[in-house]
Amino acid sequence: MSATTEPGAFAADVVAWQSVHGRNSLPWQNTQDPYAVWLSEIMLQQTQVATVHDYFARFVAQLPTVQALAQASLDEVLGLWSGLGYYSRARNLHRCAQDVVRLHGGVFPRTAEVLVTLPGIGRSTAAAIASLCFGERVAILDANVKRVLTRVLGFDGDLAQAAQERLLWAAATDLLPLPALAAQTMARYTQGMMDLGATVCLPKKPMCLVCPVQSACVACAGGDPQRYPVRSRKLKRSSQSIWLLWAQASDGAVWLNTRPTPGVWAGLHCFPLFDDEAALRAALPTHLREGLQAQAVFMHVLTHKDLHLHPWRLAVDRSTDLASLPGRWVQADQWPSLGLPAPIRKLLALG
Ligand code: ADE
Repeated sequence: MSATTEPGAFAADVVAWQSVHGRNSLPWQNTQDPYAVWLSEIMLQQTQVATVHDYFARFVAQLPTVQALAQASLDEVLGLWSGLGYYSRARNLHRCAQDVVRLHGGVFPRTAEVLVTLPGIGRSTAAAIASLCFGERVAILDANVKRVLTRVLGFDGDLAQAAQERLLWAAATDLLPLPALAAQTMARYTQGMMDLGATVCLPKKPMCLVCPVQSACVACAGGDPQRYPVRSRKLKRSSQSIWLLWAQASDGAVWLNTRPTPGVWAGLHCFPLFDDEAALRAALPTHLREGLQAQAVFMHVLTHKDLHLHPWRLAVDRSTDLASLPGRWVQADQWPSLGLPAPIRKLLALG
């Protein structure tokens, strides 16, 4: 019988491997505090572990509890998130903390079934929190785990189809540790699946020789593990050009406005944006237009869109009337702690 068909054997291999070769000293590990685990899982959804390290430490130092987060302003939360990208995560985080306080007495629910009802917590994140903190026997299925499981099982259904994804969820559930062992092993199993995906079962160069479930892996036996997972639908990318007015006073103050919701960079503090150069010029009083200086155009990549950014710099006096533009002056010692889109922060850092 192969390790994938003998009940519990696959999970036992993953658990044994994790305790020796997995990651066991990340800042959000060795705790069962659902606040820390939840925060780290949200940060890790689209961001590398190395980057999350510092952001996580700063976040919990400033907002150490779900109550503190619920009471913070959205501006403070976006400031702490600034540079991590995908800011809807930060807005949902804030709303989720408020729901935990308002609807659950400030205590995180202990089951995936209830956790998934909270803002920003999807099925896999709910299962990660419930299994890592409370030992619940529920499967996670993020992109890394999908790769591991489709390869181990030789699952070549098209994951762009909801029905195929459902089948994979069911298979993930079948492979969980035996119910009798769940309480002691679920946290390590969940972490082990994440670690396998992140460190061994890599997208382009899987390290099958050191894989604890190699002998059970259909894809490895077939000689072409990179063929999995199968997903037909590709993200359709678009591109957009945006003109930015970088107005800065001699004392370092910058003119920023708050981006409307919904839209790119919703809720973040940003230079005034325009669809073209003519619109940017038209927004300024005539006598200021000759002071405009074009800066190098650069590209910023979002999930579904390439942004071609055209910054125009305008050095002005603090007393200059920019009231024709949305926004306000923000002092040089204030903008660094605001939630700024990464490319705006980059420009400002150039000075
Ligand atoms: N990615 C998502 N969750 C993770 C975790 N708990 N540890 C490391 N990487 C992760």
